[in-house]
Amino acid sequence: MCGIVGYIGKKQALPILLQGLRDLEYRGYDSAGVAVLDNGAIDRVREVGKVDKLTQKIGEKKIQGTVGIAHTRWATHGGVTEFNAHPHIVDGKLAVVHNGIIENYRELKIKLEKQSVKFESETDTEVLGCLIYQEYKNLERSGMKPGASDILRDAVRAALLQVRGTYGLVVMHKDNPFELVAARLGSPLVIGYGEGENYIASDATPILPFTKRMAFLDDGEIAVIDLGTPKISNLNNELVAKVLSNIDWDQAKAQKGGYADFMLKEIFDQPMVFEDALRGRLNMDEGTAVLGGLNMTHEQMREIKRVCIIAEGTARYAGLVGKYAFERLANLPVEVDYSSEFRYRDPIVNKNTLVFVISQSGETADTLMAAREAKRKGAFVRGIVNVVGSTIARETGAGTYIHAGPELAVASTKAYTNMVAVLILYALEFGRLKHTSLATGQRVLQALLEIPEKMNLVLKQNDAIKKIAEDCKNYKDVLFLGRGVNFPVALEGALKLKEISYIHAEGFAGGELKHGPLALVSSDVPVVAVLSKDQLYEKMKSSIQEVRARGARTLIIATVGDEEAKEVASDIIYVPDTMELLEPLLNTIPLQLFAYHMAVALGRDVDRPRNLAKSVTVE
Ligand code: M6R
Repeated sequence: MCGIVGYIGKKQALPILLQGLRDLEYRGYDSAGVAVLDNGAIDRVREVGKVDKLTQKIGEKKIQGTVGIAHTRWATHGGVTEFNAHPHIVDGKLAVVHNGIIENYRELKIKLEKQSVKFESETDTEVLGCLIYQEYKNLERSGMKPGASDILRDAVRAALLQVRGTYGLVVMHKDNPFELVAARLGSPLVIGYGEGENYIASDATPILPFTKRMAFLDDGEIAVIDLGTPKISNLNNELVAKVLSNIDWDQAKAQKGGYADFMLKEIFDQPMVFEDALRGRLNMDEGTAVLGGLNMTHEQMREIKRVCIIAEGTARYAGLVGKYAFERLANLPVEVDYSSEFRYRDPIVNKNTLVFVISQSGETADTLMAAREAKRKGAFVRGIVNVVGSTIARETGAGTYIHAGPELAVASTKAYTNMVAVLILYALEFGRLKHTSLATGQRVLQALLEIPEKMNLVLKQNDAIKKIAEDCKNYKDVLFLGRGVNFPVALEGALKLKEISYIHAEGFAGGELKHGPLALVSSDVPVVAVLSKDQLYEKMKSSIQEVRARGARTLIIATVGDEEAKEVASDIIYVPDTMELLEPLLNTIPLQLFAYHMAVALGRDVDRPRNLAKSVTVE
């Protein structure tokens, strides 16, 4: 996720900003930049790559000044280039750094272009900066003096009232050299209160070395930060009194947003980043999705006869959920394959085949090679990727980013849910061109919009799941069962457990039990079963009865209100009801938490499990 740091005070800003950027490196980024205001001029340096490269580029350059902002960028709109890196500067006067996504930036850009505004980058952030700058000029035209107190804040407010999306932003303006203005909606910002100086950052990490007195901005708040006490107001221009917190986290804890590990943080990030996966992609009126990166005409889409999904590990399990979605909504046959197998067999793909290659890192060697193979054979190849500008994203040249933000723990969690979200959106887009009705399309979209809130309800059961996991930590084998769309959930639950706890775990389809796996079941082997209130409920329940009859302890993931499920449960976790196709988005979360707490209870290095790498760039 992008990182922000800003300083205003009496010290030189540059060293504080550069150290702040280093403290934010853990968030993952692809470029960095800094801007310092001095003597009526803004000095800016940006660079692709690490903060060290930025520091080298600054070199001996004398960047003086006691006010400044800096940023580490994780690309979302536009490639990884210096031009797209922040801070963006408008007309040499206004500098802006921004985290989040401006959904309506295209419309705003067109509007600004009509006012002869010129853009240097492909980013939504530059559009936001230009909009603020135009509003500043409008206020001047209406009689406010440049540099007047409140003019910059009012310009920011006027701009934000036109914006749809999320932001954590900080701006400075050369005509208002003694203040920074910051605003938040959906993307965190923390203000550090010093003596005659203040700090702002996207999390507490860069502020901790200077002050522990901090205030977290809430959504819809704007802060004017000068040398005195920051003044915070809301979008209605009413002053807000903030309660200061005394943050005594150490740096490491702060980097993880207060969570013990990145994996836990990333599990808890899911409701927020899921919204990012949907943002700007739902067309409620038409009951469909709008995924710009597909680059296919409706005619070409209707000509597709078969879909292939190629991926590895968790990405492949997301693909398996996608298979159910495509078959049900788009009525298209789907094959899901391991990238490593696909590239070495004789895959039958042609110009009527749509191949999705799914990858969090966008660098998985087997998936990349499989994509090349499919392309060579004339298929439409589309990437579903998290890391912007990664090799798979570039080589496929078309497809969709899942917007999960940087995933630092080796075990994939939030990328999985966002991959599933994007696949469902694709399935709907294809379905609406064929047999899926408007009403069904709208129901799917509505159900997707409700998912973040429902994820939060699942996450609230973290303590209960922790207790169950601690109780189970001495088992040597665990089986996972699911059916239908929850079969891939069982596979993913088993993968999570084995990779971070090193406990042997396998996932099975409930119906397969009697064909072999039942022989493994005993009182020494607990079974985790997903028992959702859907069309396969009764069948799944009898599979669970079979394992209980052999003495297995059962952890059941059931639907809220299903009292009957208790009959087959040693332990039970309830998740909210949703459309059957969307169940994996909720049912996977308790299994992620179960794996996490088992691993912690066993003293494992959760974020860096033995023998595994985050990105597998070799065969
Ligand atoms: O970066 P990718 O999504 O292509 O990675 C694929 C797998 O290596 C990855 O999902 C792996 O299975 C994870 N460690 C699972 O948590």
